[in-house]
Amino acid sequence: MRHHNCNTLIKLSTALTIVAYIVTTTYAISSTWGNISNSAQLLHVENVFNASSPGKYVNREIKFPKNGIGNGRIITGIRAFDQVTNGTGGHATIYSGGPGFNNVTIKLQSQYNYGLIFRVEIYGK
Ligand SMILES: *[C@@H]1O[C@H](CO)[C@@H](O)[C@H](O)[C@H]1NC(C)=O
Ligand SMILES: *[C@@H]1O[C@H](CO)[C@@H](O)[C@H](O)[C@H]1NC(C)=O
Ligand SMILES: *[C@@H]1O[C@H](CO)[C@@H](O)[C@H](O)[C@H]1NC(C)=O
Ligand SMILES: *[C@@H]1O[C@H](CO)[C@@H](O)[C@H](O)[C@H]1NC(C)=O
Repeated sequence: MRHHNCNTLIKLSTALTIVAYIVTTTYAISSTWGNISNSAQLLHVENVFNASSPGKYVNREIKFPKNGIGNGRIITGIRAFDQVTNGTGGHATIYSGGPGFNNVTIKLQSQYNYGLIFRVEIYGK
């Protein structure tokens, strides 16, 4: 009987650990699109910091290339690292372009009442 209870406890605590892991990783959402090989060239890096705004979502748009002028490079991979690890981070989506294109527009959105801290890396060839 004791043995059985102990196993149940272990299972329960494992389940809780997994749930906690999912919750924390769900809210520190880093994304990768395409492939980033060792030979890929870093075309652009952008560090985003936007403070929280009470009662709001903070939205930020990242465009590459900045002025819309094509650079002749094809984007092969993109990484958006959420630098916030305490569950208050945001998320990134590709709005247009991306891997296979020579341009990309990425939208970053915070959680309600929180800010954004991201590092966006765009690779190409
Ligand atoms: C990424 O690499 C894999 C394997 O090399 C390949 O099958 C896939 O098509 C590539 N995807 C992109 C978006 O380049
Ligand atoms: C985010 O920060 C940038 C750079 O400081 C600023 O130009 C931009 O207006 C801010 N955007 C928002 C939505 O707060
Ligand atoms: C979470 O982390 C961010 C960035 O590191 C920090 O600004 C914020 O105060 C933290 N929030 C909480 C609730 O710990
Ligand atoms: C992005 O590239 C595609 C083709 O690669 C082009 O059709 C589109 O107009 C470009 N968008 C911008 C905003 O430059």
